[in-house]
Amino acid sequence: MFELSDTLSRLTKPELYRHLAESLTVLVASERDPIANSANAAALLFHSLSDINWAGVYFLRGGLQQDGELVLGPFQGKPACVRIALDRGVCGAAASRRETLVVPDVHAFPGHIACDSASNSEIVVPLIHEGRLIGVLDIDSPRLGRFDQEDAAGLERLGAILLAASNLDALR
Ligand code: SME
Repeated sequence: MFELSDTLSRLTKPELYRHLAESLTVLVASERDPIANSANAAALLFHSLSDINWAGVYFLRGGLQQDGELVLGPFQGKPACVRIALDRGVCGAAASRRETLVVPDVHAFPGHIACDSASNSEIVVPLIHEGRLIGVLDIDSPRLGRFDQEDAAGLERLGAILLAASNLDALR
């Protein structure tokens, strides 16, 4: 269906994310199920990005009310914490602020939730479709300072492709 190879590591970040955007577009083209599409997005990212140990999504359940929380969705990596309150961790912060958070050193982030002790840096992209917060895309790395603004831009584009292709009513 698509190739995952060492040649990806020779691309610049913008080239890599263009390639990933094309791959994800093909992967989700004939499927509307958000869980299936998120699962393939997580696998694509986990096997294409260098120096990462976790890639996946958390979905917002219960809306933005007091009982709303992020619940683990499809991912690749070690088993992770299942529920994250909106005022907890990097994921909760990115979701409630509705902005991408690039965290060069997770140990310096107040309230960071350590799911895998190998993680040293992290990026969390909120998944927002037509104003509705759907969840977050979360990627962890064992390398300090692994992610930058080019990763943020590339991953935001991938998140938008994932959401546009999926029937988000299935998540209500
Ligand atoms: N580190 C995240 C929790 C999720 S795991 O990294 C998979 C956080 O602080 O929200």
